[in-house]
Amino acid sequence: MTDVKPLSRGAERMPISGIRLVMDLAARIPDAIHLEVGQPDFRTPPHIIEAAHQAAVDGFTAYTPNAGLDSTREACAQKVRAENRIECATENVLITVGSEGAVASAFVALVDAGDEVLVPEPGWTNYAMLTHAREATPVPYILREEDGFVPDPAAVEALVTPRTKMLVINTPANPTGAAYPAETVQALVEVARRRDLYVLSDEAYEKLTFGPEHVSPGRYDADRVVTAYSFSKSYAMTGWRVGYAVAPERIARAMIQLQEPYYSCAPSVSQKAAEAALAGPQDCVREMVDAYATRQEIVLDTLSPTGFVTYSPSGAFYVLVNIRATGMASYDFAKECLAETHVAVAPGATFGASADGWIRISVATSTEGVREGSRRILDYLRARSA
Ligand SMILES: Cc1ncc(COP(=O)(O)O)c(C=O)c1O
Repeated sequence: MTDVKPLSRGAERMPISGIRLVMDLAARIPDAIHLEVGQPDFRTPPHIIEAAHQAAVDGFTAYTPNAGLDSTREACAQKVRAENRIECATENVLITVGSEGAVASAFVALVDAGDEVLVPEPGWTNYAMLTHAREATPVPYILREEDGFVPDPAAVEALVTPRTKMLVINTPANPTGAAYPAETVQALVEVARRRDLYVLSDEAYEKLTFGPEHVSPGRYDADRVVTAYSFSKSYAMTGWRVGYAVAPERIARAMIQLQEPYYSCAPSVSQKAAEAALAGPQDCVREMVDAYATRQEIVLDTLSPTGFVTYSPSGAFYVLVNIRATGMASYDFAKECLAETHVAVAPGATFGASADGWIRISVATSTEGVREGSRRILDYLRARSA
């Protein structure tokens, strides 16, 4: 083989997703119960599919402007003003390829090599991946089980250095399911203001809260917060690849410009589907939220009495299960649990080094799957605990 140069430093440093490793193993087990992925088991509501079909028939099959269709941007801006209480004009909105497109674009627009980015741990792996891709350093702020995985703003502030550029906030959170109270969100934004940091607020799970109202950081300072929103989880639209960013105008302009070399624009038909999602009836969202809440209850009823779950998640569709009593590393646990019980779970270590004492269960699968899967995990945990 001829010698070839290495990949870019960012690509070489990017962590591998432990969830993907488990998914590949689970794919070889036909009767596996899939509690490892955050993929809603619901279909996209029919009125959204119908609107997309009609849009395709009507000729919405071409490139759109980089920022997205004006009608879609305006619909998003209206929703953000009304529901998220963020000051927002159409110019502040860009339609992106999933909310991931908004998150990634914010990193490119705001983070340089050598910067530090404060990321939640346990937290969604992509924040660390993107930080490495920018040749910047992820600095984890630790979320503690005894605090219900809600961040301590003073502890976050203690991590700020002259190199810190951005603070990532994710509420409701993946993988903990914690939805942060208003005073925590406000205090985190105040840290950012005091220390002159940008905030990237990932609100992919904004509509999935059970009880507490979702609180958007952008409500407290629209000048330094970039927010990423998704249709994937709220409307079961993961495959449509559409989301949007809300940003101060200067940042929005840069992010819109970046769409050109990256992917030009979000899919045109998906943008019309997104408009239909916002304009149409919202009972579909309520039905899905109720189902996720019921399933989280099933997990808690099964695993809390034995102390394997010690907190109450109040959003998203995940629960972190404490596996420390087994003494096993989370990836070994996930592999062996899959082999022995045919239940696939996500290893905690994939959400940060300090999260190796947990596994994540996703309840975005059938209620029966969640019930049976939790029961098998309980039996397995009992058998492996000292
Ligand atoms: C915290 C978080 N943000 C963003 C996303 C990506 O969502 P989208 O499909 O809108 O790109 C996910 C997907 O799992 C997620 O967990």
